[in-house]
Amino acid sequence: MGIVRLPDEDAARKLDEIVPVPSPTRTHFANSGTEAVETALKLAMHVTGREKFIAFFNSFHGRTLGSLSLTSSKAAQRRGFKRQALDVVHVPYPNEFRNPFNAADCADGGAGQGALTWIEERLFKTTTPPDEVAGIIVEAIQGEGGYVPAPANFLRGLRRICDEHGILLIVDEVQSGMGRTGKMFACEHYDLEPDIITIAKGIGSGMPIGACVARADLMDWKPGAHASTFGGNPVCIAAALKTIELLEQGLVRNSAEVGAYLKAGLEPLMRKYDCIGDVRGMGLMIGVEFVEDRVTNKPAPQVRDRVEAACFERGLIILGAGTNTIRWSPPLILSKENVDVALEIFDEAVAASSNANC
Ligand SMILES: Cc1ncc(COP(=O)(O)O)c(C=O)c1O
Repeated sequence: MGIVRLPDEDAARKLDEIVPVPSPTRTHFANSGTEAVETALKLAMHVTGREKFIAFFNSFHGRTLGSLSLTSSKAAQRRGFKRQALDVVHVPYPNEFRNPFNAADCADGGAGQGALTWIEERLFKTTTPPDEVAGIIVEAIQGEGGYVPAPANFLRGLRRICDEHGILLIVDEVQSGMGRTGKMFACEHYDLEPDIITIAKGIGSGMPIGACVARADLMDWKPGAHASTFGGNPVCIAAALKTIELLEQGLVRNSAEVGAYLKAGLEPLMRKYDCIGDVRGMGLMIGVEFVEDRVTNKPAPQVRDRVEAACFERGLIILGAGTNTIRWSPPLILSKENVDVALEIFDEAVAASSNANC
């Protein structure tokens, strides 16, 4: 009898090669993003023996009870589900366009420093002693929260804080991973090495698969500690392996090139329309934020909704993110010719949705 080589071993080996978590890694395959996050949470508790977590406002990490305790992008996602299952404290996300921190906390480091000060000077010294924190979970580019890239000093600072206090840094790349940002993972734009990374969505090209990849020395729990009946099933694993191959053969590069082309096409629209307050993002993960005008930058959710509908009527499907942002998150096979058509429709839709404030 020969040795049977399981396809999920191949996929785990491939992930070990491509994830920004320091090798060697171990992977647990699940069926969705939320399950990948649950794995990360359980692992962090198991390894550290601690049970508190730090997450960020406007984040989305899933809808099962553990990940829902982290999710904080809309009250509707929480309403009716009583108290959160896990001990999670939320910190404002360092949105540079809408810096939520006061100038003293930011010092010269902008919103990124403001968030670090909040954690170290406020949380750690009041409600959340660092030696009780199992993990900090963060999106390098906030997805559902409005396509908001993290400032580099913030992610560097989180890494330092985690190292200083034995806290695990969990980066959720369910939305930003698998080539979406023009690199395989958004973390790579920041040279950030998480302890644990969560992946889903794009890895299976539509097949239900999620993965939690962790440093091997962390994921050494014993058989029975964690499992999933359908996790790592051969059909989804085959889809993941093929997807990674296609990404490596050109789709990541395409995301970077066509994404830059799209962003360069959106930026002039910001100058043309006073209701576009910000164009931001990387690769094919770009946010366009709508405001009443660029003096007050007051959020304009109705304008955003009108633009979304006007695009739909003209044959372009785009989706909101956050309260007043449109997310551009097209398939990674997008061509520059597609972008030209999309930009023409978008321009027309913004013009048609304009009001006195726009
Ligand atoms: C960053 C992030 N994490 C986790 C999830 C949850 O993934 P799923 O819907 O596959 O459970 C999502 C879904 O939108 C997400 O964007």
